[in-house]
Amino acid sequence: MSRVAYVNGVYRPHREATVHVEDRGFQFADGVYEVWSVFDGRMADFDGHMTRLHRSLNELRIDIPMTRDALTRVLKETIRRNRVRNGIVYLQVTRGTARRDHPFPAPGTPPSVVVTSKSIPFSRSQAQAAKGVAVVTYPDIRWGRCDIKTVGLLPNVLAKQAARDKGAYEAWMVDEMGLITEGSSTNAWIVDQDGKLRTRDTQANILRGITRAAIMDLVKAEGIELDERPFSVDEAKQAKEAFFTAAGAFVMPAISIDGVRIGDGKPGPITTKLRERYLEAARRDAV
Ligand code: PDD
Repeated sequence: MSRVAYVNGVYRPHREATVHVEDRGFQFADGVYEVWSVFDGRMADFDGHMTRLHRSLNELRIDIPMTRDALTRVLKETIRRNRVRNGIVYLQVTRGTARRDHPFPAPGTPPSVVVTSKSIPFSRSQAQAAKGVAVVTYPDIRWGRCDIKTVGLLPNVLAKQAARDKGAYEAWMVDEMGLITEGSSTNAWIVDQDGKLRTRDTQANILRGITRAAIMDLVKAEGIELDERPFSVDEAKQAKEAFFTAAGAFVMPAISIDGVRIGDGKPGPITTKLRERYLEAARRDAV
């Protein structure tokens, strides 16, 4: 089955879908993106991702490319045309195409919009979650506005590759104080030695994960105690449980950090419960 991508108003065969060489996303990483999980052809946490997209655009003064309804139609149509039942849909909006020059282009330059969607078998994530995955640590060398979901992801790419080079699934980035900020494409969580669920607060220089926010709602409903506070690499290595969250990864148990076994080396009970509850709620509320 051939894939299709939406590029600036046109659905094109995926292999022919291109943007201009002077697209500011290509030249300057001057753009933002969102990723939605797709369950049974429907998007999870829809409003949260849409709201964050608008915030990212606003923070960077990129024009909103189309109405929310129009964008929703494009996202749904891209999922439909690619026959994606389970997987992700990806949206990128850049500051558009203009002769290469650092300042913003002339007002009225239309933003570029790209949407792609791909199938990812749900069974793959379930198999990984059943066993748990390895995490390594890596220095956080990113800029000071990681709350904006920009396509400037080179430090994240280097961190993820460092993980892959060591046979691990994810890299948890570490700030100058030795505290974990977040994963290269996920938010980081532990159940600490006192049994408290911990994740870094969003005053810090991290992305305000939409999956993270959904988990926080579930945590409240389940009566689990949450301490929204940074944790160190040592605390993470001594944790009872560790996991990370993101669209596509959902809630993924980490069973080792830099080769140090977490808990008994198996996905822990709080992690497993939160994954189940998250999947139930995300499926139920998908649009
Ligand atoms: N990444 N932190 C970073 C640095 C991320 O890139 C992401 C998402 C998250 C989790 O956010 P959310 O729960 O809203 O997906 C945290 C996406 C999936 C990606 O880059 O593909």
